[in-house]
Amino acid sequence: MNYLIGVDIGTSGTKAVLFDEYGKSIVSHTEEYPLYQPENGWAEQEPEDWAKATLNCLKKIVEKSNVNVKDIKGIGLSGQMHGLVMLDKDNRPLRKSIIWCDQRTQSECDYITQTVGKKRLMEITANPALTGFTASKIMWVKKHEPEIYNKCKHILLPKDYVRFVLTGVYATEVSDASGMQLLDIPKRKWSLEMLEILGIDPSLLAKVYESYEISGYINKETSLYTGLVEGTPVCGGAGDQAAAAIGNGIVKEGIISDTLGTSGVVFAHTDKPLIDPMGRVHTFCHAVPGAWHIMGVTQAAGLSLRWFRDNFCEKELSESKKEGIDVYDVMMRNIENLPVGSGKLIYLPYLMGERTPHLSSEARGVFFGLSAIHDKYNMLRAVVEGITFSQRDCYEIIKAQKITAKEIRAGGGGSRSVVWRKILADCLGAKITTVNSSEGGALGVAVLAGVGTGIYSSVEQACESIIKVKTEIQPDINEYKKYTEIYEIYKNLYTSLKKDYTLLSNLRI
Ligand code: XUL
Repeated sequence: MNYLIGVDIGTSGTKAVLFDEYGKSIVSHTEEYPLYQPENGWAEQEPEDWAKATLNCLKKIVEKSNVNVKDIKGIGLSGQMHGLVMLDKDNRPLRKSIIWCDQRTQSECDYITQTVGKKRLMEITANPALTGFTASKIMWVKKHEPEIYNKCKHILLPKDYVRFVLTGVYATEVSDASGMQLLDIPKRKWSLEMLEILGIDPSLLAKVYESYEISGYINKETSLYTGLVEGTPVCGGAGDQAAAAIGNGIVKEGIISDTLGTSGVVFAHTDKPLIDPMGRVHTFCHAVPGAWHIMGVTQAAGLSLRWFRDNFCEKELSESKKEGIDVYDVMMRNIENLPVGSGKLIYLPYLMGERTPHLSSEARGVFFGLSAIHDKYNMLRAVVEGITFSQRDCYEIIKAQKITAKEIRAGGGGSRSVVWRKILADCLGAKITTVNSSEGGALGVAVLAGVGTGIYSSVEQACESIIKVKTEIQPDINEYKKYTEIYEIYKNLYTSLKKDYTLLSNLRI
């Protein structure tokens, strides 16, 4: 039997999973690490934490499984997108990584739009300049930390830094590179025009592969530490969203996915680069060769829930320990029977600004309609509903692009909750399904590694044989009507608050 490994380098932690060639998960291991928020709206992580966690996870899964390491034919890497890793001449990280949800770079985005030109920027990178993307983060370091920029010899994305540690090569692949805003999205290669206008030396960037291609091989140090065979191929892999989409079988038009992770993403496969002229949803290269995708992003999906858990859920945490179940399951069972609309309480999930549809670095979270009648669980249900309204914002834009789908496949940690999947079905008015594997991104990149090493003939063929629908929830039309009434108010709130968000952001206190 052949085996493959998928590693998912996320924001809350890294998970490595060993799969057999039928996509069955044999053993997995996860390690968490901290997120640093030195200022309101800033977010950083330590690249070495990702590398250590990956090495430990690989070591653990080799130890835990009875599989002969010679039968592990390939490794795929999935990672949180957009984060900036800068290495010096000795390949040491020069600073913490400024990660995807960091919002400090609005003035660099304005500069990029002005110098490249709005129209040309859309033609090349298929997206407007956004604080989330890597280009503005590079420009920020260039301006604010020139001593660091001048020492920088390599610029890598999070999973590609880990790839460097595992293999010694500087490589990336089209799906993740798309989120740097330096790739020519229609042509699937670095845009020398963008690099020249922004004054970024092309030699700083890694070589771009298609996502299934072999990019390097496990080196001696990694082999000694983890027990993997030196020379095991490491394939391109994918940005976490494209990886999760493959793990959910989103490799052709007609099915959409909704990944409820730290961020929340509604994702559709497209055969051509389809661009939203208003830039509210992103257009990137898909990890399927010759395909693209569009996706709408809620910045703080699981991040909102984690914030609520960490600040208000001590009681649920101790119950979860006593009962030996996940704290999120305890939280969810407390909101299951509360009415739609949380007793007229609405939450805006803009803890880290918002991408779709507002593209705002200034927006922040709101509880609207708070009354003395509400308790903690009304607030918790409002949080879950508010994240879901934001996912509806993404879905409505994708529907308006004439992309129709018979079903939405839910994935990510949030999709494990049947309570949340029901809210999703009723709020979006769509059939919500889940598939036989809950490993999403890790499975997606294991599939890519299987294609790169010849175990599968194509991504489509692999998904066809491995991924099957397991559960389905149909929307309740009466609940959908209620959610739609609340959604109208939800949408108005951002417009009403827009000016005040700017005032708040300009406050110097
Ligand atoms: C996608 C995005 C997030 C991160 C973290 O554009 O920024 O999904 O990849 O999950």
